[in-house]
Amino acid sequence: MAATAKEHCAWLRNEIERHNIQYYQLDSPIISDAEYDALFRELQNLEAQHPELATPDSPTHRVGSKPLKEFSEVVHRTPMLSLNNAFSEEEVRSFDERVREALETNEVEYAVEPKFDGLAITLTYVDGVFVQGATRGDGSVGEDVSENLRTVRALPLRLPQALPLVEIRGEVLMMKRDFQALNKAQEARGEKLFANPRNAAAGSLRQLDSRITASRRLSFFAYGVGAVEGMALPPTHGEQMAWLKSMKVPVAEQCGVVQGVLGLLDFYRDIGAQRAGLPYDIDGVVYKVNDIAKQQQLGFVSRAPRFAIAHKFPAEEALTTVLDIEVQVGRTGTLTPVARLAPVFVGGVTVTNATLHNQDEIDRKDVRVGDTVVVRRAGDVIPEVARVVLEKRPQPEPARFDLHQRHPVCPVCGSKVAREAEESAWRCTGGLFCPAQRKQALWHFASRRAMDIEGLGDKLVELLVDQGLVHTPADIYQLKLDDLAKLERMGDKSANNLLAAIEHSKKTTLARFIYALGIRNVGETTAKDMARHFGTLDKMMAADAERLQQVRDVGPVVAQSVVAFFAEQHNIDVIAQLRASGVHWPEHEGEAGQVLPLSGQIFVLTGTLNISRDEAKAMLEAQGARVSGSVSKKTHYVVAGAEAGSKLDKARELGVTVLDEQQFLQMLEEKSI
Ligand code: IVH
Repeated sequence: MAATAKEHCAWLRNEIERHNIQYYQLDSPIISDAEYDALFRELQNLEAQHPELATPDSPTHRVGSKPLKEFSEVVHRTPMLSLNNAFSEEEVRSFDERVREALETNEVEYAVEPKFDGLAITLTYVDGVFVQGATRGDGSVGEDVSENLRTVRALPLRLPQALPLVEIRGEVLMMKRDFQALNKAQEARGEKLFANPRNAAAGSLRQLDSRITASRRLSFFAYGVGAVEGMALPPTHGEQMAWLKSMKVPVAEQCGVVQGVLGLLDFYRDIGAQRAGLPYDIDGVVYKVNDIAKQQQLGFVSRAPRFAIAHKFPAEEALTTVLDIEVQVGRTGTLTPVARLAPVFVGGVTVTNATLHNQDEIDRKDVRVGDTVVVRRAGDVIPEVARVVLEKRPQPEPARFDLHQRHPVCPVCGSKVAREAEESAWRCTGGLFCPAQRKQALWHFASRRAMDIEGLGDKLVELLVDQGLVHTPADIYQLKLDDLAKLERMGDKSANNLLAAIEHSKKTTLARFIYALGIRNVGETTAKDMARHFGTLDKMMAADAERLQQVRDVGPVVAQSVVAFFAEQHNIDVIAQLRASGVHWPEHEGEAGQVLPLSGQIFVLTGTLNISRDEAKAMLEAQGARVSGSVSKKTHYVVAGAEAGSKLDKARELGVTVLDEQQFLQMLEEKSI
């Protein structure tokens, strides 16, 4: 009997694996979900009856395990980089030109792939067994999502070849059909719908309870090998992908190898034509120099390779009508006009609202209620109204939309609205008296990049504010089990989880705390810079506008916002209450007064550089330099890329030192500490 049970187990595992490949890699399932589930259950039963037959790589391990408290951090063995983007044929041609020039060759062979619209992950196999999987995070440090990835049927738990180490990079995503099925099920259960497959994949992968991940159908496609020990990898990217395929790792059928720039552009058109019919979302294609030795020769600039580029598809557009223009009150009181639209399917989601930004934008585009408009949605960004189709404007013409006339007071709290000189936005002056601002300030306070209170999302904040349980962030730390358990849809278990998350959030960092305060104009980066500069909250609170401007990138506007925030007694009280409730962070001396290698130096960037302007700017600022937009006598250096024009002439005229890109990078390297 044991022998037959063993054989049957092996047969079932093989069958399940075969159907996984049919479904996730070949996109052609040959059995129904019910038949698949029956095979799976049969294997589960057999393993339960004969525990000695269970193997570490059995598909029955893909059901998830008990929830984690939090994800631990994983430092990537090699950083997970990003790609530069090209948005036009011209940009692709200049990419190819740069590559050909650097490699001193007439034509380059490229590997071509879809650009999967999911989440980057890295998978580690030791002795052929899956041991760890992590998200990209900031590129250097990601989150350990191994337990969740173990449930992803598209991934092999064991490779056919037991090499000491294999690291695979790729993208987790959700097939369009699985996304639709998931949303249908969510709707039936009265739960939140996901906006698009990418969000659904991200939400499913970042679950602390891997049993939830197991219940969602995630897919995976590899796009590269991170590291391998125990064998020499083939010399081209294309062959490496073929090797991955032989290791039972999913590789998209669309991947291929082409010659020269014409091959690239053909591939772009070809995939573009297939896009709507593909079972998964893509937002472009990726081109990579095929020869790995040549890739190494080209190397990287900052965080992106010189040997690869993403050629993005244009944002999707669709026609619809403006049903109304409403106003939303933001976290800092800004009144943002929002167009309510007749539902339209664009860029993978049904769009019913689009931001109109502010009055100037409405005037510029001349959007009126009743207009037919083109809405545009690219990637994960908020949909926007691209333009009005004037020929379709109803007759007689609807009136121009005047935000202030329509809302002379805040539509939520009735406070006065005001607009500062040179600002296009109207603002509610109600501050935290305004429930709309209060809700968003609290939601921001609790959000992942701020105090990271898991479970305190917008719905719950809304409930807590409406029930009068929470007025300020400090009230969050006074919540009791009784208060929470009374709330709609909140059982004892969720209430306890939330209290634990609140308790957990008390241990934070100064940067997170500053960001969480929601000071106008102080984003995450500024908060980090402030924390680094001052080291303690008290020093920051005591700083005047002038001292604040010594912080990297802080100008008069930000400095004024900070001063104004701390001038409010109400804010000082909330901070004191938060500290009294046990919110704490490590403090240090601060870098104020410390001189960086390029402190006081003014740079101007001009022409086309191989690295992006933003990167060059960030690199300079990290060394204390300031980057200005125009050349003057005060400029210390002008960095001139290809086709530099008038700024370069001006620099020469004024005798300012001019650096080419190579000299510039060398200078940064030498000055770096
Ligand atoms: S290669 C060193 N190939 O795009 C380059 N990335 O913008 C590493 N992505 O973080 C990336 N499809 O998540 C590569 N075929 C593909 C891709 C791809 C999607 C994502 C990936 C990466 C991001 C970079």
